[in-house]
Amino acid sequence: MAQRKKIAIIGGDGIGPSVTAEARQLLEIYRDKAGLPIELWELDLGADRFLRDGTTFPKEIQIAIQRECAAVMLGALGDPRVPNLEHARDILFGMRFGYDLYANIRPVRALADRLVPLKGRGAKDVDFVVFRENTEGIYVGMGGQFKRGTPDEVAINEDLNTRKGVERIIRAAFEYAKARGLTKVTMADKSNAMRHAHELWLRVFHEVATQYPGIESRHLYVDALCLLVVQDPSQFQVVVTNNLFGDIVTDLGAAFQGGLGMAASANVHASDPNRVAMFEPVHGSAPPLAGQDIANPFAALLTAGMMLTHLGFPDEEKRIERVVTLAIEEGACTVDVGGKLGTKAAAAWVRERVAKEL
Ligand code: NAD
Ligand code: IPM
Ligand code: MN
Repeated sequence: MAQRKKIAIIGGDGIGPSVTAEARQLLEIYRDKAGLPIELWELDLGADRFLRDGTTFPKEIQIAIQRECAAVMLGALGDPRVPNLEHARDILFGMRFGYDLYANIRPVRALADRLVPLKGRGAKDVDFVVFRENTEGIYVGMGGQFKRGTPDEVAINEDLNTRKGVERIIRAAFEYAKARGLTKVTMADKSNAMRHAHELWLRVFHEVATQYPGIESRHLYVDALCLLVVQDPSQFQVVVTNNLFGDIVTDLGAAFQGGLGMAASANVHASDPNRVAMFEPVHGSAPPLAGQDIANPFAALLTAGMMLTHLGFPDEEKRIERVVTLAIEEGACTVDVGGKLGTKAAAAWVRERVAKEL
């Protein structure tokens, strides 16, 4: 029997725990019915825990995950009771930065025509993937405030870009394309305005591109990319960009997929697949939806699928995506994607069909 792979589960805040519980039950079916060698480890982290005892992301937990786990399944973090989001940053960035998960891979794939809100466009037009740099940029938290609260106050956030960091994410995007026979990689920046940081991106992009002669490389300013992707998303296959732009572009992309309830993501150290990786829906904790059984669980289920590929079971990601597509087609889904079911019933519909096939 293959070595058991341990998966840490952090539900988090708002709708996070409920959608993650649904994904967890899907994983339990894989463990109990299909005999997948996985072990689930639920962690009590998030706003409730922080408000209870001040814990955010203890060093020993961070290390234990790194040593013992193959993957982490995260729901979402962010709670109005913690306005400065201290716990959310510690946990989310503690994993992204702490485990050096430099590639945030966010597929923008629409599973049914009716989910695509663009006039004259359907599912066949929406199938690209965003490689978001995940360990640098404006997210590093360097900077500070001066004369805070006075009329003279100053606030600075530094945008950090390293040769190593830029090169490895661009290379990861090209490698992903090459491995799948894709022929187009687009890099989006603002090198016209950010002439230091993004000149580096542009130069490295051109340099790396020469090493992939079969792939058409295209540079776009990110503002133009936002225009073109709405006009015709089918022109994109792989998009690579920095941390902040990747965040924004993938919420825009989620709109083509039927909303944030449909968008999955993986955070990986792309050049070493044996390192622990972290999987989370693109959506946040959506506080107004919490506790009402209305949040769409499909982003979390599709995210579990991405995790199963990472763990060595790519056919199971395909199966989950196919069954979720069927659920959308049959209207067995939540209201945000045109159905009438609650979170639990929509996820159960998918699980029952997956279970029947196993
Ligand atoms: P959000 O993603 O929570 O919500 C944005 C919109 O999408 C809302 O209209 C919401 O109702 C809808 N939505 C999101 N998920 C949905 C789902 N599963 N089903 C149906 N509709 C869904 O973003 P926000 O409102 O900007 O942020 C709320 C909190 O979440 C903030 O604290 C933010 O910092 C945090 N956040 C966390 C993560 C993460 O942990 N990875 C990601 C994004 C935002
Ligand atoms: C995401 C989120 C996070 C980000 C927030 C919660 C810091 O929006 O995962 O997309 O900006 O990376
Ligand atoms: Mn985001």
